[in-house]
Amino acid sequence: MRVSPEIESLIPYKPGKPIEETKRELGLTEVIKLASNENPLGPSPKAIAAIKGSLENLSRYPDPSAYDLRMKLSQSWKVRAEDIVIGNGSNELIDLLVRVFCEPGDRIVMPDKSFIAYAVVSQAARVGKREIPVDKNFHWDVDKFVEDFKENHNSREKILFLANPNNPTGTYVTKPEMDHLLEGLGGRSDLLIVIDEAYNDFVRANDFSSSIDYMKDYNNVLSIRTFSKAYGLAGLRVGALIGNTEITQWVNRVRNPFNVNSLAQAAAMAALDDSSYIKESRELVWRGLDSFYEFFKEMKLPYWESQTNFVLFDSLRDGEHLFNCLMRKGLLVRPMKAYKMPRHIRLSIGTDQENKRAMEILKETLLEVPEL
Ligand SMILES: Cc1ncc(COP(=O)(O)O)c(C=O)c1O
Repeated sequence: MRVSPEIESLIPYKPGKPIEETKRELGLTEVIKLASNENPLGPSPKAIAAIKGSLENLSRYPDPSAYDLRMKLSQSWKVRAEDIVIGNGSNELIDLLVRVFCEPGDRIVMPDKSFIAYAVVSQAARVGKREIPVDKNFHWDVDKFVEDFKENHNSREKILFLANPNNPTGTYVTKPEMDHLLEGLGGRSDLLIVIDEAYNDFVRANDFSSSIDYMKDYNNVLSIRTFSKAYGLAGLRVGALIGNTEITQWVNRVRNPFNVNSLAQAAAMAALDDSSYIKESRELVWRGLDSFYEFFKEMKLPYWESQTNFVLFDSLRDGEHLFNCLMRKGLLVRPMKAYKMPRHIRLSIGTDQENKRAMEILKETLLEVPEL
């Protein structure tokens, strides 16, 4: 059976290795996974209770419109419930946006060194990509981009994907920059601006702006959120898309009717009510980030201050080799070769205990692996 050249050359998204698989393959009893930006606290006890309470209804199909969850989110985000679409993780929503709004031969636009899934789902849909260049601190010139875009717009560029804060760098677009971007490109009928806020709950910077605040002025702005990070439900797969109903109705047309299972819907609602869990998750991440910054300073390794639950650092070594050495000692991190950063490592924040142990393993291994 023949497949298209795009499918043939597609390099699939490589998820972090699961803990059990690592234990099995390497004969380890203890593995610390700091590779997939998950919440190390485990799910909220309220979410677990809600799942248990929903088990008896499992013989029924789930609510195809996730009505109760959308109503709850609409109150908390101050947007209309009709403007929200729930997805099987935000990944499904990213995929749907490309499939719905791009045709083969179109392009998405994204800053370089940003979430690889945008490019993977696009390639699978025979859609190309243009990467906006960034400097060594992963900063892109928003004003220049807007001017270029306005002057040389290629009508086949349909979606701008902007992860804010960004994965894998942890950096962010400031409010003045976002204002300029949207003053320049907001309201266009030929471009969707998708702002992916998977990590917005962890932001500490005070010049960060929420995408939702721009929606009333610009109807081509969409926001993506997830329950996989601060809300601790990565295993259940729940994400949300927020945007003008004129746009989201098309997504709903293509979306599988029962895309989000009933346990996931119930758990997401309960997690939203657990503000103390969110507070604890945030404080854990902030404490962890600060201690890793100190650690990297001590080890004289460049790192980038992060507004997320992970931190990127330059190991000054062969990142893939370092990753393998760390894995053999039971520490899973994420090497950045796929992002064309062969020395860099992305490390998710764990529990205090996991972070402490991770620093011990890192210190020991950094001494063993020579700098390049
Ligand atoms: C920026 C960004 N967007 C979206 C996702 C996907 O999240 P999920 O599909 O679990 O909602 C991730 C996951 O790491 C991410 O980093």
